[in-house]
Amino acid sequence: MSATDSLKQHPGLIPPPEEFIKNAAISGMDAYYALCAEAEQDYCAYWSRLARKHLAWQKPFSVTLDESNAPFYKWFEDGTLNVSFNCLDRNLENGNADRTAIRFESDDGEVTSISYRELHKKVCELANGLKSLGVGKGDRVVIYMPMAIEGVAAMQACARIGATHSVVFGGFSAKSLQERIIDAGAVALITADEQVRAGKTLPLKAIADDALANGGCESIRKVVVYRRTGGAVDMDVTRDIWLHDLMANQSSECEPEWVSAEHPLFILYTSGSTGTPKGVQHSSGGYLLWAALTMKWTFDLKPSDIFWCTADIGWITGHTYITYGPLAVGATQIMFEGVPTYPDAARFWKMIEKHRATIFYTAPTAIRTLIKAANAEPAMHPGQFDLTSLRLLGSVGEPINPEAWMWYYKNVGGARCPIVDTFWQTETGGHMISPLPGATPMVPGSCTLPLPGIMAAVVDETGAELPNGQGGLLVIKRPWPSMLRTVWGNPDRYRAGYFPEELGGTTYLAGDGAIRDKDTGYFTITGRVDDVLNVSGHRMGTMEIESALVAHALVAEAAVVGKRDATTGEAICVFVVLKRSRPAGDEAKQIAKELRDWVGKEIGPIAKPKEIRFGDNLPKTRSGKIMRRILRVLANNEEVTQDISTLENPAILEQLKQAL
Ligand code: WTA
Repeated sequence: MSATDSLKQHPGLIPPPEEFIKNAAISGMDAYYALCAEAEQDYCAYWSRLARKHLAWQKPFSVTLDESNAPFYKWFEDGTLNVSFNCLDRNLENGNADRTAIRFESDDGEVTSISYRELHKKVCELANGLKSLGVGKGDRVVIYMPMAIEGVAAMQACARIGATHSVVFGGFSAKSLQERIIDAGAVALITADEQVRAGKTLPLKAIADDALANGGCESIRKVVVYRRTGGAVDMDVTRDIWLHDLMANQSSECEPEWVSAEHPLFILYTSGSTGTPKGVQHSSGGYLLWAALTMKWTFDLKPSDIFWCTADIGWITGHTYITYGPLAVGATQIMFEGVPTYPDAARFWKMIEKHRATIFYTAPTAIRTLIKAANAEPAMHPGQFDLTSLRLLGSVGEPINPEAWMWYYKNVGGARCPIVDTFWQTETGGHMISPLPGATPMVPGSCTLPLPGIMAAVVDETGAELPNGQGGLLVIKRPWPSMLRTVWGNPDRYRAGYFPEELGGTTYLAGDGAIRDKDTGYFTITGRVDDVLNVSGHRMGTMEIESALVAHALVAEAAVVGKRDATTGEAICVFVVLKRSRPAGDEAKQIAKELRDWVGKEIGPIAKPKEIRFGDNLPKTRSGKIMRRILRVLANNEEVTQDISTLENPAILEQLKQAL
């Protein structure tokens, strides 16, 4: 029996629709296994073939993979290309010039469309503008923008001139922005007057001014400001310039800067288990290859598709599946400024109906929020809208529980659309483990099998591969083109964090737990194995939040743990010891509010703790180590059944059991 036939035997698997299989880029499991076999047989030949076929090279590469300085791998290094050329110029040559590249819908429902020709012009003018400010190859540019066509254009303009961008999510605080500017050593900042979400404005330029005024950001020479709302801003005449003024009178042609495939396209900061956020550095060639290829394989993108990824460009999902992937394959995509619940919780369904979206890619948290809303108010139910344009659904960012999967499948996809539950990370650049919509039989809650060429495995702490059915650490055994190249300015952290000696020093450690199904070999991700929380699909380091808390004048000690949450997946729960006596009643509530706002200001609103509990002390071992696993149990309001014999102060548990 072939592997394909044996998969078909398993009960509980949901096969992709026949019609979908017929037309899919990877059609049927035999095609999937054939690609896997090709990669197994000659790994370099496989990637070389794909890189030649799917990217436009200015000078072709001769060496596919250089492992001589592992784990600092190099892909296609002597080849040269330009990412923006691949995303824009290539489409002008391909007959896509007048195709809509982006259909942008603002918070209040206004739609602006831009064709590939127009986007090319915008990017060239902006690239020339940046050059006129003295920004060039190798410089870092921080982008602190709302969801806007101009945000995508700013990223593409950097790519065009060989500058390395670092996008900072618009929900981050002045302090977080400042830290990232300093770490990246950025020479320019591109921002907007204000950001609009759910009818409210957020003064991005004023926050940026704050960040720059705090000191340490002297590397920034110029600030470019996109006028989104026309709200009042302070312009420093020697430093600040309006984006439209910068672009005016610039040539609409800008010769791309040809760079090595290894040239850093961007740095994106993400949370780790220790220390400050790390700057995950991505390449140009390998990254773009996988962005383009996963558009074709995982999303099965066809010329007739209207693709919609609801992520923000401040996160990796927005980088790969808004700014780079869709443009690299000439897609027409929807881009949305707002939030799923404004003006009401039917916004997504109305937009799918209005724009006739065919592929919809969102996060489980959004789905769970909309399930709740639909249950509460029938008018918000997707069944009230014409969603027949959809042919494929996707999920990303966190585990999707089987109930939410089923609801999504039936009510949004009409039981007709496959769901691709895509597991990947900021570090991986693109999808790692995911069903292929025209091949892989689906199981709700499982991201199924690695994409062809991705050598994923589950191992124990020594690196030994575990048999199916046994949970362990998720690793990728071989380097792949879109992997991170280093942690910006900190190669030791890259090596120690992702390629630990215990696993041999060349195996990529994802930081997630996983288990493979006994019969199918399918992967299920069991969640982070380090001190990283996943709140609404956003990564948060517990250490970062703890550092912010202890920086508050009242706080002596703080410990942050994750608490299960039916909507956001995990929620932030903190245990705090104050420098003064333990507060109670209204005073405790008052201080808790102050601390929440403090964290919001220090890191950003997304890091605000959901729950704060005060104690006279924290549970500690005799050597003074905080016992977080016990705190996790308390946060989830469970009975402590673990061995607490090493605990020095067991009496404290009673006190910490009570939520405010
Ligand atoms: C989690 C987001 C289960 C995981 C693209 C990972 C997932 C972290 C899935 C990366 C999924 C992402 N199923 N868990 N389909 N996708 N995760 O860097 O814990 O923001 O390590 O990248 O999200 O988050 P990041």
